[in-house]
Amino acid sequence: MSILEVKNLRVSFHAYAGRVQAVRGVSFSVDSGETLAIVGESGCGKSVTVQTVMKLTPTPPAFIEEGQILYNGRDITGCSEKEMQQLRGGEFSMIFQDPMTSLNPTMRVGRQINESILKHTSLSSKEATEKTMEMMRLVGIPKPEMNMLRYPHTYSGGMRQRIMIAMGMSTNPKILFADEPTTALDVTTQSQILDLMNSLKKQFNMAMVLITHNLGVVARMADKVAVMYAGKIVETGTAREVFYEPKHPYTWGLLNSMPDINGTDGSRELAAIPGTPPDLYAPPAGCAFAARCPYAMGACLKAQPEETSLSGTHKASCHLLDPRAPKVPAYEAKRHAVEGKQQSLGGM
Ligand SMILES: Nc1ncnc2c1ncn2[C@@H]1O[C@H](COP(=O)(O)OP(=O)(O)OP(=O)(O)O)[C@@H](O)[C@H]1O
Ligand SMILES: [Mg+2]
Repeated sequence: MSILEVKNLRVSFHAYAGRVQAVRGVSFSVDSGETLAIVGESGCGKSVTVQTVMKLTPTPPAFIEEGQILYNGRDITGCSEKEMQQLRGGEFSMIFQDPMTSLNPTMRVGRQINESILKHTSLSSKEATEKTMEMMRLVGIPKPEMNMLRYPHTYSGGMRQRIMIAMGMSTNPKILFADEPTTALDVTTQSQILDLMNSLKKQFNMAMVLITHNLGVVARMADKVAVMYAGKIVETGTAREVFYEPKHPYTWGLLNSMPDINGTDGSRELAAIPGTPPDLYAPPAGCAFAARCPYAMGACLKAQPEETSLSGTHKASCHLLDPRAPKVPAYEAKRHAVEGKQQSLGGM
């Protein structure tokens, strides 16, 4: 049994102008010790998916229309806010792009970590202080007895992210959710933070759900990848399957737009694929990517593609996978584009 399993999750925002169908039937699972990366263009529903799992989407306007979120086999969609508060910051932990949104600017960092420990564990106040210092050391902050007295704004961005990680890890979480955790950081710091997250994940056998725009980060961190487009997962598989055997034209577009997979250059975000994603107030009847897809056929405009299983782990939803569909020449070309990057993926 996976520690987290999301089944057919649909989330909409009920707004004045209508219903925004932000997440349209998303399913994924993640096991302990495993990292799932969710990738896709801005607005495709990555953050809403993860925030819904943690019940951080404000209801209203957000509503879970359908679906289950199973944590250790138990559906948590109906949990009370009190139960969720226990999970969040306890068994679930979160790291966001901008730590300042999560850190209290008026409280010394040591006290913030300390309070989180006291709230979610049964440690005494003295033990919590020791744990705070231990966690600060673990994430590479020297002299914790001094540094714990500082306020968040006196730290650099990278150091603040380390504080967030120390705080998140201090309760021995089972799942770490990280939404663009290193986007705001310079290349070297990004690299250090990713290494830190990876080593903590291994040490504590955590599951990790990582949202990123950067495919280099995916290659470095992920065991599994889910490619999202317009509120759906259009392709999912092991990192190797998605990078080397991509089957969805949107994934081809993403991989081709990737200038460099070594992931050390944080400024190298995904280049744009021509066109724009559909309006989620009124998503198209057919495949949401059809309007931008160079291989779109009549069928693509009429009906949504079914999910095709390509292996035990690899799935994609595209009409081109129908045996009756014409063979497209693109695939080899796309594969070629990925092969050049093989060296840095070799460790996977
Ligand atoms: N409070 C809200 N009210 C209405 N629509 C919303 C709200 N929050 C998000 N949305 C919509 O939900 C969709 C998914 O948003 P989400 O933030 O999950 O995208 P994302 O994939 O995380 O993008 P990014 O990469 O830019 O962070 C978007 O179309 C967005 O406009
Ligand atoms: Mg987001």
